[in-house]
Amino acid sequence: MKFSIALVFVLPLIKAQVPHWGPCPEPAVQPAFNLKQFMGRWFEIARLPAQFEKGQCIETNFTLTTDSSIRVVSSEILNGELRKIEGIGVIEDMKNPAKLGISYSYVLPYSPYWILSTDYVNVAVVYSCTDVLRLFHVDFAWILGRTRTLPDATIMKATEIFVNNNIDVLRMRPSKQQGCDKTL
Ligand SMILES: *[C@@H]1O[C@H](CO)[C@@H](O)[C@H](O)[C@H]1NC(C)=O
Repeated sequence: MKFSIALVFVLPLIKAQVPHWGPCPEPAVQPAFNLKQFMGRWFEIARLPAQFEKGQCIETNFTLTTDSSIRVVSSEILNGELRKIEGIGVIEDMKNPAKLGISYSYVLPYSPYWILSTDYVNVAVVYSCTDVLRLFHVDFAWILGRTRTLPDATIMKATEIFVNNNIDVLRMRPSKQQGCDKTL
């Protein structure tokens, strides 16, 4: 039962990338994470896996709804059209506030959304990993910025955080954030 649900949920993700053997890595997360300071607008600077047919100008706007839950509105421009998707985020364990769960539909379980590191005002390093029967795992990773572009040095430091936590980001690619303000 659990098995088939996991497969239905995970199969579309697997198609998008090569799964990694073994269970999820267990990265360190942002100490004393402050959810309120994290709220507001973040732009996608880079992401894993590389998906070439995706939209551009991807950004997310987080709004606090309670002390431990948030509204998540992500948007992208695909084929000249602005598309929005709304979700709910929660802190699942108050002892680990940097480990959020986000769901974009009430029929889907919360997916991990872990803030590995952030200074709240420039950059955030985010990781999501799902174990499949502890045999392999499927992961996503993002570098987010408060601005549409970040200095190379900042991106390099963010990438190192993944690497230092045994997260394979060789296939991470920059997100397209050019010409966005004109279209919006
Ligand atoms: C983010 O969401 C809040 C609350 O819904 C809204 O007031 C604000 O204008 C939004 N900001 C952006 C950049 O969309």
